[in-house]
Amino acid sequence: MEKMKRTATCGSLRASDENKTIILNGWVHRNRDHGGIHFINLRDRYGETQIVVDEDVPAELAELAGSLKFEYCVAIEGVVRKRPDAMINPDMPTGEIEVSVKKIEVLNTCLTLPFMIEDETDSNETARLKYRYLDLRSKGMQERIILRSKVTHAARDFLQRTGFLEIETPTLIKSTPEGARDFLVPSRLHAGKFFALPQSPQLYKQLLMVSGFDKYFQVARCYRDEDARGDRQLEFTQVDLEMSFVSRDDVLTVTEGIMANVFKETMGVELQTPFERLSYDDAMNLYGSDKPDLRFEMAFQDFAPFVPGSDFSVFKSVLESDGVVKAMVVPGAAAAYSRKKITELEDTAKTYGARGLAWMKVTAEGLDGGVSKFFGDQADAIKSGLGANDGDLILLMAADWKTACTSLGAVRSRLGKDLDLIDESVFRFCWIVDFPLFEYNEDEQAWEPAHHMFSMPQDQYLDTFESDPGPVKGDLYDLVLNGYELASGSIRVHDPELQQKIFNVVGFPKEQAEERFGYLLESFRYGAPPHGGLAFGLDRLVMILAGKSSIKEVIPFPKNSAGMSPMDESPALVDEPQLNDLHLQVVMPEED
Ligand code: AMO
Repeated sequence: MEKMKRTATCGSLRASDENKTIILNGWVHRNRDHGGIHFINLRDRYGETQIVVDEDVPAELAELAGSLKFEYCVAIEGVVRKRPDAMINPDMPTGEIEVSVKKIEVLNTCLTLPFMIEDETDSNETARLKYRYLDLRSKGMQERIILRSKVTHAARDFLQRTGFLEIETPTLIKSTPEGARDFLVPSRLHAGKFFALPQSPQLYKQLLMVSGFDKYFQVARCYRDEDARGDRQLEFTQVDLEMSFVSRDDVLTVTEGIMANVFKETMGVELQTPFERLSYDDAMNLYGSDKPDLRFEMAFQDFAPFVPGSDFSVFKSVLESDGVVKAMVVPGAAAAYSRKKITELEDTAKTYGARGLAWMKVTAEGLDGGVSKFFGDQADAIKSGLGANDGDLILLMAADWKTACTSLGAVRSRLGKDLDLIDESVFRFCWIVDFPLFEYNEDEQAWEPAHHMFSMPQDQYLDTFESDPGPVKGDLYDLVLNGYELASGSIRVHDPELQQKIFNVVGFPKEQAEERFGYLLESFRYGAPPHGGLAFGLDRLVMILAGKSSIKEVIPFPKNSAGMSPMDESPALVDEPQLNDLHLQVVMPEED
C-alpha cells in the first residue's frame, strides 16, 4: 500500500487540480469500453471520479483496465485533466474533470454481485440485509449513515455546549419496566440468575440525579423484545437526558434547542421555536391521535348539536349512552368519493373498533347521499356550523369518545395520504402535553402506567389519584414530528412515599416493588432532588430527516421484520457446552 496510498478522494478533484498527478483508491462503479478507451467510474464515500484509460496506453495497462469488474477495489495513479466541454457533467461535483490513468493496482477483486450497487437498491430486503456491507456501499445508504453521524454530533454538541455531561450507564442490569419484554442474559457465575438488557437507561439516569449530576445525557442503546415494525427495532438508539431542579418547560426548551441545532447543522433548516403545544385531550378531540400529523388540517368538529333536531336514532342512542358524534369535513372530496371508496374508509375505521362511518355530501342545494335524509332540514346550519362548502364530503363518527377519536383519526391519516394533502418538504413539530397518567387495561382489568411508573401526577390530582385514577393527568410530554412520536418524557416522582402509592395504583404490591426497584426507592430516601427528562429516538429522527418510512434505512445493521439478522443469522443456536456453562437447557416448543 505504500506507493499507491491515495492523495485525493473520489469526490475531491476539481478543474483547479488540472495537471496534478494524483492517486485515488476506491471501488469500480462502472467500466465502459468505448472503442478501446476505458471509462471507469471510481467510487468512494466522498463521491465518484471518471478515470480514463486512453487508447495509446501500453497494452498491459489497457488489458488490466479491461479486466476490472464491478466493485473491484483498486488504486490508480494518473493526471487530472479537464473534460472536453461536451463531456462536462454538471450533475457530478467532479464532472468538470477526468483522470488520465498511468498506473492501476488491483487491491482486491470482487465476486459476482448479488445485486447492483446503485444509488438506491431495489433488491429485496433479505438480500440487502444478508449482504448489508454491500448495500451500505450504495449512495443512499452512505448518505443516510453520514446524516446519522452528523445528527448525533449536532445533538451531542448542543448538549455539551449547554452544560450537560455525557455519562454511560450499564447494559447488564436488573429489568427496567418500559412496557416491553426484556432481553435476558443468563449469568454463568450465578446459576439461574439473569441480567436484563436495558429497555432504556430510565432508572440509572434517575439515580444519577440523586448523585448530583444535574444535567445528564447519553446516546444510549436500548433493547426491547417486541415485534419489529416500520419505526421499531429490537435494538435502537435513544438520545436520553435528565435534569434536576427543573419544570416541564425547562425540559421542552432544551429539547427544542437540540432539534434546532440538529436541523440547522444537518439540513440548513431554521426551526421556529417554541414548538406548538397541544394537550392530549385536544390532540385526540381534534385529530384523533396522540401523534397527529399536522402537515394537513382536517380537524374534527362536534356534530352533537345537530343530533337532537334529527330523528336519526343511531346517533341519538350513542349520545344517550355518553358517546360522542364527531364530524370531519373533507374539502372538495364529494365527487371523488363514490360509495365504494367511502366503504373503504369505513373499513379503516372499523379496524379501530368503529361500527361504521356515516357520511353526506355538500351540494349547492343542501346535503346529499348517506345520512343526509336525516339532516336535510338543518342543511344551512350544518354547512355554516362546520364551515362546509359545496363539493365537500362530511364524514361522521358516532361512538364512545376514544373509539370515535381514534377511528376517525385513522380515516384522517388515510385521507391525508390518499388525497396527497401532505407536503413532504415540511417538518411539523408539536408537543403533546398533559397525558393521562394511567390507562385502564380492559383485558387485565387493571390500571397501567400510560408512560412508565416514575412519572409525576399533576399537582391538582395529588389527593385523588389513588381513589380515582382515570381523570389524572401527569406531567408527561411527547414530541411529535410529522405524525411520528419522536420523544417521550416526564417530570418524575422523587418522593418514595408517592412512588409507592403509584406502584399501588398500577397493582405493584409493596414487596414486589421493593424487590424490583428497592434500590431506586431507597435512593429517594437520601435527598433525591426533583427531576425530569426525556428521550428521543435517534433512529426515528434520522429516518424522518432522510425522508424514509422505515428505521432500517438509517441503521447500519438492522434486524429484519422477523427480528433476525440474515447476515450473521442471529439469533442462532449455541453449543451444548456454552449452555452448560450458563446452567441452561433448551426446551423446544412442540411443532404444530
Ligand atoms: P419511550 O419508551 O417512549 O420512553 O422511548 C422514547 C423514544 O424512543 C423511541 N423508541 C424506539 N425507536 C425504535 N424502536 C423502538 N422499539 C423504540 N421504542 C421507543 C421513540 C420514543 O419516543 N425512558 C423513557 C424516556 C423518559 O421518560 O425519559 C423512554 O424510554 O422515538
